[in-house]
Amino acid sequence: MTGAGNGIGKATALALAREGARVVVNDVGGTRDGSGEASSAADAVVEAIRAAGGEARANYDSVATAEGARAIVAAALDGFGGLDVLINNAGILRDKTLLKMDQAQWDAVLAVHLTGTFLCLQAAANAMKDRGTRGSIVNTTSVSGLLGNFGQANYSAAKAGIYGLTRTASIELQRYGIRVNAVAPIAKTRMTEDLPMFQKIDDSLSPEHIAPAHVFLASELSKDVSGAVLAVAGARISVYKVVESAGKYKDTERGPWTPEEIAEHFEAISKI
Ligand SMILES: NC(=O)c1ccc[n+]([C@@H]2O[C@H](COP(=O)([O-])OP(=O)(O)OC[C@H]3O[C@@H](n4cnc5c(N)ncnc54)[C@H](O)[C@@H]3O)[C@@H](O)[C@H]2O)c1
Repeated sequence: MTGAGNGIGKATALALAREGARVVVNDVGGTRDGSGEASSAADAVVEAIRAAGGEARANYDSVATAEGARAIVAAALDGFGGLDVLINNAGILRDKTLLKMDQAQWDAVLAVHLTGTFLCLQAAANAMKDRGTRGSIVNTTSVSGLLGNFGQANYSAAKAGIYGLTRTASIELQRYGIRVNAVAPIAKTRMTEDLPMFQKIDDSLSPEHIAPAHVFLASELSKDVSGAVLAVAGARISVYKVVESAGKYKDTERGPWTPEEIAEHFEAISKI
């Protein structure tokens, strides 16, 4: 489990261990914007899992490098003799409005979320394929990526990319028995606690609400589910789907649609 030292990752790592999973607790231990690193975040979760009678080991590598991704997968293979589940959860924020965003803010967020998810997914899927085991990979997308959000051009682009990656990976890896799904969570964590909508909220949006969805997608309970996006916000669970309108045909003998005709029929063309 990546980014398992805080927030949603921590809650899910503890829940997976309670279910009997042996968990690699990966976390670089940086700040919310991804600067700095510390082993204490991952270590504390490993200690909590062990104190509750579970099995875990820490890993401090960054998901954003190929060596880091390989080391995270190796930690499971070397430490526990196999890898059945990968949960790509690590994340950072560098919010800025589009016109003020510099490339460093763009690159840092894309590197952790989109590149990190790709690298860990690829390393894990190769390990699962080589060992001939079935597997489950769960990525983390966001309402920001699926619908857009003010001030998050970098983050929403990365999270929308993770949606596309999830869909394609679920199609390509089906032949190896590897399922790939995504969760779009909403939870009060250090990533979101200063947003106005979280100010008056107590435990009703705690990360512990997200963990059961992760456990469901990780386990055989969801053996027929792949390519899905499960949205979880407190007590509410739903599924995101891309919808295409029913579409409208033009008589082919009358040539292609003209821009004026598209404008004239836009409402009918958009109708679902
Ligand atoms: N909290 C929400 O409402 C919400 C909403 C939508 C999506 N998400 C997503 O859920 C995931 C978890 O977020 P959270 O709210 O628990 O935030 P969080 O900041 O509490 O946890 C994220 C963890 O990822 C770790 N991390 C960051 N960069 C890393 C790297 N390069 N390698 C390894 N670990 C790294 C951090 O150290 C941190 O412990 C993120 O992907 C986030 O984008 C959260």
